[in-house]
Amino acid sequence: MPPAADPASRLYAESLLAFWAEAGVDAMLLDEAVDRIEAGKFVPPPAPTRPAPTATVSPIRPIAGAGQPDVSGAVAQAQALAAQAETLDQLAALIADFEGCPLSSEGAATQAVFARGAPDAPVMVIGEGPGADEDRQGAPFVGRAGQLLDRMLGAAGLTGRVFITNTVFWRPPGNRTPTPAEQTICAPFVERAVQLVKPRMLLLVGGASAKSMLKRDEGILSLRGRWIEWRSADGSLELPAMPTLHPAFLLRQPAAKKRAWADLLTLTERLDRPERPE
Ligand code: URA
Repeated sequence: MPPAADPASRLYAESLLAFWAEAGVDAMLLDEAVDRIEAGKFVPPPAPTRPAPTATVSPIRPIAGAGQPDVSGAVAQAQALAAQAETLDQLAALIADFEGCPLSSEGAATQAVFARGAPDAPVMVIGEGPGADEDRQGAPFVGRAGQLLDRMLGAAGLTGRVFITNTVFWRPPGNRTPTPAEQTICAPFVERAVQLVKPRMLLLVGGASAKSMLKRDEGILSLRGRWIEWRSADGSLELPAMPTLHPAFLLRQPAAKKRAWADLLTLTERLDRPERPE
């Protein structure tokens, strides 16, 4: 029989939990993220039956490298679904129904968070993944970091000229960084969004976004501030991408704001440069 709970320690535990809840701690985590795909505990459910695809399905994205879990089934499912979306609203609905990404059932996410902004924006902003505020409100970058991002985009003359999304569409528990496997599974939806919005350039916000989108290993401090060509998995889409610092990092390190500002100016300089005839 388990020992009877000591009322004093129970009271202590309750008040500690209440204190953590007040401070915004709403998930219990281990020190290391558990990769449920690799652990074999997550099996993507079969794809829901939908009308036949009307757009091209790109080949399965190769697995990132040795030791990576095999997510090809979930990726193929995401590709087939994404290809069916003819509009951004349809894409949002397909993402909301998708159960192939483990994040959608890990408990931290209450809803899928897809995108906000101008559907024909010349710039697509791609962040890492939704946090608690985004999960509550169902839109990306609406918390403190998002407010800073909006102020910076506004100061650079980009208000109303951006479409904002993330590499994953569900809040990772404890706001941890999304794993490469989770990002790979969600990538077909990101690529379909690029096809539908048809931006002229990408702004990749934060290291987890830049590394995943560009398939690069370097940290954001060495990637940021220079144009790097982004290519879709099937090679059919290519766009210039500007990696920059994440606004959550800038909130902690305000001295770095000038570097992010320089990145935005480099981006707007190209955006507003008159198009040269070919
Ligand atoms: N950080 C991100 O990368 N994306 C969001 O939507 C919010 C915070």
